[in-house]
Amino acid sequence: MDLFEKIENIKKEFEKNIDECLDAKRLEEIRTLYLGRKSEFTQILKSLASLPEETRRELGKKANDCKNYAASKIEELAKQLESRSEDKQRASLDVTLPGIIKKEGSLHPLTQTISRISDIFISLGFAIADGPEIETEFYNFEALNIPLDHPSRDAFDTFYIQGKYLLRSHTSNVQIRIMRETEPPIQVIMPGRVYRPDAVDASHSFMFHQVEGLMVDKKISFSDLKGILSIFCRSMFGEKTKTRLRPHFFPFTEPSVEIDISCIMCSGKGCRVCSGSGWLEIMGAGMVNPKVFKAVGYDNEKYKGFAFGMGVERIAMLSHGIDDIRLFYENDVRFLRQFV
Ligand code: DAH
Repeated sequence: MDLFEKIENIKKEFEKNIDECLDAKRLEEIRTLYLGRKSEFTQILKSLASLPEETRRELGKKANDCKNYAASKIEELAKQLESRSEDKQRASLDVTLPGIIKKEGSLHPLTQTISRISDIFISLGFAIADGPEIETEFYNFEALNIPLDHPSRDAFDTFYIQGKYLLRSHTSNVQIRIMRETEPPIQVIMPGRVYRPDAVDASHSFMFHQVEGLMVDKKISFSDLKGILSIFCRSMFGEKTKTRLRPHFFPFTEPSVEIDISCIMCSGKGCRVCSGSGWLEIMGAGMVNPKVFKAVGYDNEKYKGFAFGMGVERIAMLSHGIDDIRLFYENDVRFLRQFV
């Protein structure tokens, strides 16, 4: 077989190979076989040196043409294979499949309740303040006119830390801190955690939340207390909510009241939630005791004010019909997911 025929055969064999080639890996093998340093075309081109000039030129041209032809075919197929694999990838994306739903977190029901309470008071002109949870006896008791022999100061009712300090048993400590720092007018609410050594059960926890409120100015009267707190109750529990003020006693307010709302479950008819009374106790309040003003250095002749305090858990439980306080602290997503 002469060299012309040999080149023709190599070309035919190349065409068969390239026609049957289906993937990139095989194409690379073909590339080395026909274009590599040890390929037959290269060998033929090398062997030309010993041939007479004319044959050499003709054979050289033919071998080179075939090599170039093989190179362009290989490039062409490489491009086709690449776009085919992109098509395949695109086909594996099924746009009709349902999307992946991202599970978004949500605010804890107690945080939501504090936000709702805060929003209402903000709309009434109140600011929000914060205070320490580790407190001294002065701020938690003395300045609030709670005497040394008051039962709440007993070690069974307050968590003491190294004698001098305690975990605040209510948010009323922040009233004192604010009044010691600022002159009236004051119109502020103070949400936060409080601590009491109660045995944990469905309605007690050693830690819970309160929102304290304080309004002090030159002409604040009991009717301001009544007006603002009834607006709050209607905004929080519904426009039809009635409020009732019962005389009560708190050392830091005088006179003091407990505020009830008409039962949000039975609208006052009497049910299991309100123990048949038609009313739910919602907060304590009163006119700031002159003794408290004295403790913070305010002029009793000049200023009057009212204060109030409510339990956040109780309000959240009533609003959502939750019957066990422990659910708030267990981090069970089956419970928490209901408050998205
Ligand atoms: N500190 C009271 C408690 O923990 C709640 C309270 C009642 C706060 C009346 C007040 C108030 O500011 O005026 O039970």
